[in-house]
Amino acid sequence: MKYKSVYKKWKNDPISFWSNIANDIIWDRFPETILNEIDNNFYQWFPDGKMNTCFNAVDRNVEEGKGDQVAIYYDSPITNSKKQITYNELLEKVSLFAGALKNQNISKGDRIIIYMPMVPEAIIAMLAVARLGAVHSVVFGGFAAKELAVRIDDCKPSLIISASCGFEPNKVVEYKPLLDEAIKIAKHKVKKCIILQRESFKVELNDQIDIEWNEFLINAKKTKPESVSGNDPLYILYTSGTTGQPKGVVRDNGGHAVSLKWSMKNIYGMEPGEVFWAGSDIGWVVGHSYIVYAPLFHGCSTVLYEGKPVGTPDAGAFWRIINEYNVKVFFTAPTALRAVKREDPKGKFIKKDRISNLKALFLAGERADPDTVLWLEEKLSIPIIDHWWQTETGWPIASNPIGIENMLIKRGSPTVAMPGYEIKILDLQGNEVKRNNLGAICIKLPLPPSCLPTLWNANERYVNSYLKNYPGFYETGDAGYMDEDDYIYVMSRTDDVINTAGHRLSTGAMEEVISNHPDVAECAVIGVHDDLKGQIPIGFACLNTGCNRLHNEICNEIIQLVRNDIGPVASFKYIALVNSLPKTRSGKILRSTIRKIVDGEEWTMPATIENPDVINEIIEVIKENKI
Ligand code: COA
Ligand code: AMP
Repeated sequence: MKYKSVYKKWKNDPISFWSNIANDIIWDRFPETILNEIDNNFYQWFPDGKMNTCFNAVDRNVEEGKGDQVAIYYDSPITNSKKQITYNELLEKVSLFAGALKNQNISKGDRIIIYMPMVPEAIIAMLAVARLGAVHSVVFGGFAAKELAVRIDDCKPSLIISASCGFEPNKVVEYKPLLDEAIKIAKHKVKKCIILQRESFKVELNDQIDIEWNEFLINAKKTKPESVSGNDPLYILYTSGTTGQPKGVVRDNGGHAVSLKWSMKNIYGMEPGEVFWAGSDIGWVVGHSYIVYAPLFHGCSTVLYEGKPVGTPDAGAFWRIINEYNVKVFFTAPTALRAVKREDPKGKFIKKDRISNLKALFLAGERADPDTVLWLEEKLSIPIIDHWWQTETGWPIASNPIGIENMLIKRGSPTVAMPGYEIKILDLQGNEVKRNNLGAICIKLPLPPSCLPTLWNANERYVNSYLKNYPGFYETGDAGYMDEDDYIYVMSRTDDVINTAGHRLSTGAMEEVISNHPDVAECAVIGVHDDLKGQIPIGFACLNTGCNRLHNEICNEIIQLVRNDIGPVASFKYIALVNSLPKTRSGKILRSTIRKIVDGEEWTMPATIENPDVINEIIEVIKENKI
């Protein structure tokens, strides 16, 4: 069947469509209710079905005879180690770790934070939590203590699983002091921390609260999977919104397993037994969905890569992994490939005959820039597929579904809507715009399985953030257009979210941090173009009247503040001090005008500007500092 027929089949009868697909996962009780509408805004998928996510990811494969197949290829150039874990071994480790969690009275619904580097134990922890029907919340290692504390206070974990450290190319990221600091700041008191001591960097533990990973396993008995309802939460993953308070995106068990399993065959063209590699981090949604869950649901082997695109040791790292593990489909962010292209523009490291198993390269996380796509097409001679999705959806909204049909690729477009997503481009009044005209990209409710049913403990914020502006639709926060062939083009965000090196960050959150500096009266952070990272944040701040401290000192303090409160991942390296910020007569800072000036785009003086002279100062500062 071709894409159009599959899409039509879904649209004509979504309930039968998803009910049929639900047969591909193993249920303890198959759901009688496929979709339940609680009220206008809230939906539940497969609410009376009973299943377990870990069973579907691990036990199922062993029961189906894949016990000796490799489930995880762990490759860490950063620590010079490699490991292969079969499904049999994974089952053993996960059920034992789940038993140890049970000894700590962890059960269905309890929350567990996982703050770990890219090691197999992180996946084991995620699956063990899922095995008990508990709820994990993985926090990316590049976030600082304060960000971790915010998440602790929001999801109130029973315990935290962490490690002694993470390794970045030229430094050790000491997790333990960050964790201790976060626990100190947080109001919610965590009772226990399980700490994985990494071979080359061990830390002192605090007997009162810490338990070393191996000790934690003593007296543990292997534990069976706990049956949960289809709509019970599997995990919470925090993502950036417009304020400093991140949004806790909730993922349920049933819908997640159903959509992700379907996507492996239909979107990525994968068969069980083949090797899939998502070059991301388990701290992001791509890592959750396509390093951990989807490849395992589909009986594939997944690659867990603890390294960088370049520098570990060189720009050939990606191609080495693809060759060594026979990767069939590779998925990463354009920024990672821009880094590779920058170091190896001629593609010297790419030996096509050694990576002939690679059939497609998928890109997501930010707009795939045509330069990088062209370079990849030329160097790899395989389909380079841009696809579009968000933490909130957990799987692609738009893609070229090569398992159904290898569609015509139009550069600059992530192709077409996947079944389950009815996309409309709407103007500010909520009317559909004409083809090729820009508008807010919205998805008609209900969202398909796996998409967020709500935000953790924040139903009202869920409605306000996503459903309020366009009744009957989910607002993606992206602006774009659709062409006459239903191809979607995602152009920019409609909010203060920026995308730095494939990481979603909130400029609003950075502004909140900078405003806390005692000398700062007000500030604005904007995302400006960067050749490597796509966008980077830069700040403009006005100081309190009478402040006569050295500007250099203040700037360094502000940069350090963002690093300490949000984390190095924010890549916040530049702040300019100005006398005033350009504002509208109603007091709104004209961030988009500043951004256009910095990016060298055409701009016009806004009619509503209160203080036009200030723009000249901004232009001068930009010139002087070569921003
Ligand atoms: N734990 C701790 N710190 C981390 C981290 C982690 N997991 N990941 C990044 N950091 C730190 C880095 O060490 C760096 O710190 P520094 O300012 O002290 O040097 C900072 O965060 C910024 O890192 P990064 O954004 O990775 O920039 P970079 O210049 O080191 O590397 C790229 C640039 C493009 C190579 C890199 O960002 C990359 O590989 N991006 C791909 C991202 C991706 O896969 N995203 C998933 C979306 S699908
Ligand atoms: P995240 O939730 O971190 O996955 O970030 C999701 C956001 O990244 C989207 O809302 C888009 O703004 C952006 N994004 C992801 N994939 C693409 C893509 N293929 N093209 C353009 N933007 C993308």
